[in-house]
Amino acid sequence: ESTLGAAAAQSGRYFGVAIASGRLNDSVYTSIASREFNSVTAENEMKIDATQPQRGQFNFTAGDRVYNWAVQNGKQVRGHTLAWHSQQPGWMQSLNGSELRRAMNDHITGVMTHYRGKIVEWDVVNEAFADGGSGARRDSNLQRSGNDWIEVAFRTARAVDPAAKLCYNDYNVENWNSAKTQAMYSMVRDFKQRGVPIDCVGFQAHFNEGNPYNSNFRTTLQSFAALGVDVSVTELDIQGASPTTFANVTNDCLAVARCVGITVWGVRDSDSWRSQHTPLLFNNNGSKKPAYDAVLNALNGG
Ligand code: G3I
Repeated sequence: ESTLGAAAAQSGRYFGVAIASGRLNDSVYTSIASREFNSVTAENEMKIDATQPQRGQFNFTAGDRVYNWAVQNGKQVRGHTLAWHSQQPGWMQSLNGSELRRAMNDHITGVMTHYRGKIVEWDVVNEAFADGGSGARRDSNLQRSGNDWIEVAFRTARAVDPAAKLCYNDYNVENWNSAKTQAMYSMVRDFKQRGVPIDCVGFQAHFNEGNPYNSNFRTTLQSFAALGVDVSVTELDIQGASPTTFANVTNDCLAVARCVGITVWGVRDSDSWRSQHTPLLFNNNGSKKPAYDAVLNALNGG
């Protein structure tokens, strides 16, 4: 196959991209995105600050722009993200305790109701663990509302859209030997044992000097899949875009039956949140980089 999406589809997987609504009038951007990918994540447009800027006043203008572009171009959509310490609107940042808990559940309900039946998988909770060696939860207003905030979010989400797969998503959790990875693993194992409704785990896979790729990523994917959840690579970018590393990540996913797909976090380097890292598959002109060929070759079984 000659595109990433079609090549991934040979094994029933998707190859997705983060789309920014502000770029949808750029024809170089949209022609690459529509040709190459078969799944879309809104880079910012379905986040809390975008969808509920004032309490109780939902706004899906930008989210729908991304959603409609995706559907009109034949792509499935990942939802990102419902409960997160970051990109909270001001009104939510100032809430705590049971009032915040209520607002979190209202937010999940409002957004998932709008997109009910339309989103294949939702990042219900994003980035709840701390960096470093502690294995602790990240401090945040959500965490201070009670350690059970994550499972409450998942139970609320399941009740609103039972057809959506519900994911936990985090970064720097690709290396099997890191404390953060192990803490996430313990949580997912506990959720599966107690029947908390979780279906999938997303590994953001922002690889750089501080979080280098390690070949034990495959062990990580396999270990989580063995708990009975789907796994996916949700925000892939690699500082310097080494073709070998891009191929390794692709082959790691292909090696795990429950690895359902890969999403890269932007189209061209110039679209990246870390453009100075030139971490993506297309250069600023929209030309394919060597990493593109490496990924396509891997998806085609090469
Ligand atoms: O929309 C405003 C615009 O009106 C304003 O003029 C401009 C001035 O700075 O800011 C614009 O908002 C920016 C937004 O991106 C849209 O470009 C925000 O400042 C900026 O903080 C925001 O950054 C996003 C970041 O999440 C915020 O946390 C990145 O685009 C986005 O790629 C990044 O994505 C996250 C994932 O959601 C979760 N995992 C990590 C990943 C990378 O940080």
